[in-house]
Amino acid sequence: MEPSKEHVFEYKGFYFGVETSLEYVASLEDFEINDSDIFITTYPKSGTVWTQNILSLIMHEGHRNGTENVDLIDRIPWLEYNIKNMNYADLPLPRLFATHLPYYLVPRDLRNRRGRIIYVTRNPKDVMVSYYHFSKFMTTLEQIPDFNLFMERFLAGKVLASSWLDHVTGWCSHAEDFNILFLTYEEMKKDLRSAVLKICNFVGKKLSEEEVDSVVRQATFENMRKDPRANYENLPDDMVAKDKGSFLRKGTIGDWKNIMTVAQSERFDQVLKEKIKTLPIKFIWDIKDEI
Ligand code: A3P
Repeated sequence: MEPSKEHVFEYKGFYFGVETSLEYVASLEDFEINDSDIFITTYPKSGTVWTQNILSLIMHEGHRNGTENVDLIDRIPWLEYNIKNMNYADLPLPRLFATHLPYYLVPRDLRNRRGRIIYVTRNPKDVMVSYYHFSKFMTTLEQIPDFNLFMERFLAGKVLASSWLDHVTGWCSHAEDFNILFLTYEEMKKDLRSAVLKICNFVGKKLSEEEVDSVVRQATFENMRKDPRANYENLPDDMVAKDKGSFLRKGTIGDWKNIMTVAQSERFDQVLKEKIKTLPIKFIWDIKDEI
């Protein structure tokens, strides 16, 4: 049941991919934060890249009006996976980062309410199904072709980024320590414009109606998929199997119903449903459900 050491290592109870190192993730506790820094924080497959694109479109005029051809990963690099060896201290302000870190491993300054955090969650059945497909595409992840086995690993937190429930519970129960905005994938899907405005408000950016329209237009699934700056198609060849998927796969609510059997769904509910009820987030499991 343990994840393969070839693909992950553990640090303080959390599984990291081997593209980073134990020394580096341990050093992040002391990583200096500026008040203007913004972090998109998620459990994997919850809409990170989508939120990266929205934030980039809001913050960078050159991204919004198409005059600058900079990939998302360079605009909003990964804090704990510095795969391009960038010097994060030298990034122009405000610095924007993405991270999958749990609340207790982020830079200390963030816990003192410096910087801002946008925490995005998604219903965990869709997260799990997205993660399952993603593992076939990302060659750096462990391949678990048997969906049932993958589900057991996911429920036990024996995957990169560990337990979904621990991640979300941790961030929700420590929200007071942070300057944090909670968003759900489903609310973004159902009303993208409102989500964009929430982010603008949270980061203190005033855009005109036309600019907001432009952000919304460029952040739809269909348009992002076509945009090489936003669809992560430029990831190194040794990280992805391009014939086996993409970062933007289906982009819907309720895709879990296409793969999970009734028995699997019941098993999932048996492990997680009661615990999920104690979270302050209302999850949407079906495209027809009201927010
Ligand atoms: P699916 O695999 O269900 O399609 P992350 O960026 O955290 O890895 O999350 C990936 C999920 O977000 C994928 O879900 C992907 O398709 C979805 N996604 C990315 N951009 C999106 C968009 N603009 N609209 C809706 N879903 C999007």
